[in-house]
Amino acid sequence: MLKNRTLTIAITGANGFVGRNVGRLFTKKGIQVINIVRKNRTISVQSGTLLISDDLSEKYLVKRLKKCTALLHLIGQGKQTVEDDYEKVNVGLTKNAINLCKKAGIKKIIYISGLGVHKNTTFGYFISKFKAEQEIIHSGLDYTIFRASYILGKDDPLSQILCKQIKNGKITIAGSGNYRIQPIFIEDAGEVFLQSIFNKKFSKKIIDLVGPQTVTYNCFIKDSIYRKKIKIEKINLEDAYRNALHGKNSNFGIDDLNILVGDYVGNHKKLQKLTNIKFRTYREILKAGCLS
Ligand SMILES: NC(=O)c1ccc[n+]([C@@H]2O[C@H](COP(=O)([O-])OP(=O)(O)OC[C@H]3O[C@@H](n4cnc5c(N)ncnc54)[C@H](OP(=O)(O)O)[C@@H]3O)[C@@H](O)[C@H]2O)c1
Repeated sequence: MLKNRTLTIAITGANGFVGRNVGRLFTKKGIQVINIVRKNRTISVQSGTLLISDDLSEKYLVKRLKKCTALLHLIGQGKQTVEDDYEKVNVGLTKNAINLCKKAGIKKIIYISGLGVHKNTTFGYFISKFKAEQEIIHSGLDYTIFRASYILGKDDPLSQILCKQIKNGKITIAGSGNYRIQPIFIEDAGEVFLQSIFNKKFSKKIIDLVGPQTVTYNCFIKDSIYRKKIKIEKINLEDAYRNALHGKNSNFGIDDLNILVGDYVGNHKKLQKLTNIKFRTYREILKAGCLS
């Protein structure tokens, strides 16, 4: 096994929630981190080297990434716009990430797909994630693809939505709230990514990145607001989707709702067996105040 200090990992989408946190974790372990970020953005990355790139195709990147053992490809978006649709960002930039690895001699790519993605999926976000997975699988590179449930930590996208609602004194639950999620702690996810670089058992695999507890959204919300005076309001699914479509009074986008009510659960036992990590439960994460 390589010593951490001889290890260099490149991260695309390094300025996002997962990238910022994992970059910090890797740096703490003595790993050299190269953060690839977009230009003209407020940069929240706190450690490692910064490289600016618009679409990962700039020639100068190749020389700067030659020493990297792996690329953690985290660029992705869960909402599309006319300028930046799923095909362009989730599929197109994955193709560019693969080309970059090949040109720079980076042998391993790690990608975060979504829990529930499969070949018969019918909605846009999952289709783009599936196509990105296929690009990676057929790239000839070594890879690990993680199909992730909600990754929790300070400022994760779900907690941001909940914090906003908590500040306003009311949390809205779309539909029954009986759909399940399987949250995983960001620091545990970081450990998993690291192991996936060295452990051959992760080679050319698709693995569910899910925490040890499966919980209904109702229950997760109740635990999140434990002892706080916050009202919980149920709205019917039709209204929730209509609000999301019109973009008004909506905390979630259409595809956020698809993922949430999709009731996607995965195989934690397999991840546990592969990594031997003592994964934190969502209750431990909430109790430790890791989200506030
Ligand atoms: N967080 C979760 O619970 C979760 C669950 C399942 C899967 N995932 C996947 O994990 C990956 C990282 O998630 P995250 O939570 O860190 O998301 P995030 O906070 O939204 O970060 C996404 C990153 O992608 C970059 N990006 C988006 N569109 C781009 C574009 N057109 N060109 C270049 N860069 C672009 C963003 O750049 P800027 O910083 O410049 O905006 C940002 O750094 C994503 O692929 C996501 O789908 C996350």
